[in-house]
Amino acid sequence: MSAYPTDPYEAILGLRVVRKYRPEPVAAEDVAAILEAGRWTGSAKNGQDWAFLIVEDGEQQERLAKCGQFSQPLRDARLLVVPVRTPDGYEFDIGRVSQNMMLAAAARGVGSCPVTLHDEACAAAVLNLPPDHYARYALCFGYPDDEAAREQRAARSMGGRKALDELIVRNRY
Ligand SMILES: Cc1cc2nc3c(=O)[nH]c(=O)nc-3n(C[C@H](O)[C@H](O)[C@H](O)COP(=O)(O)O)c2cc1C
Repeated sequence: MSAYPTDPYEAILGLRVVRKYRPEPVAAEDVAAILEAGRWTGSAKNGQDWAFLIVEDGEQQERLAKCGQFSQPLRDARLLVVPVRTPDGYEFDIGRVSQNMMLAAAARGVGSCPVTLHDEACAAAVLNLPPDHYARYALCFGYPDDEAAREQRAARSMGGRKALDELIVRNRY
């Protein structure tokens, strides 16, 4: 990813997952910007019922990877953020937080991939979550490597999304 998206609409349409990262950690100012984008996300009743759990330990990344089925990016991530849904929180809000963090990352040249923690009990145990706290997804970040850039180009040339005609329903299903 050489040119970062600056126009918000182009950034939204251009966001693709990145699963392969360069070795260097995500710079502190980029980490701060990503977390700040999460912090300013709107939520139901402005409840902000979330916590941003940052996993910095390689062994902890490995343990978490065992909680998912397609979870190699959890091992490879240079920054790993688990948006935890705290009591009274909504999964919808967690989705918004995640997308905002990933868009903010892309704007700074940081690639990202959401990864599903299919075994939620496993994730709760690894992360030592208190009761009524949930972690279903983890967000992997890192500067894209060359292979990631090739994959992105291939995904774009394949189209990659259903046509709007297949998605729009008017008035009633
Ligand atoms: C809710 C959600 C869960 C996902 N879980 C995984 C996952 O477990 N492992 C993975 O490699 N990618 C995961 N992805 C990434 C998707 O596979 C990816 O967004 C999709 O294939 C479209 O890719 P593109 O946005 O690059 O076009 C997930 C994405 C979302 C939105």
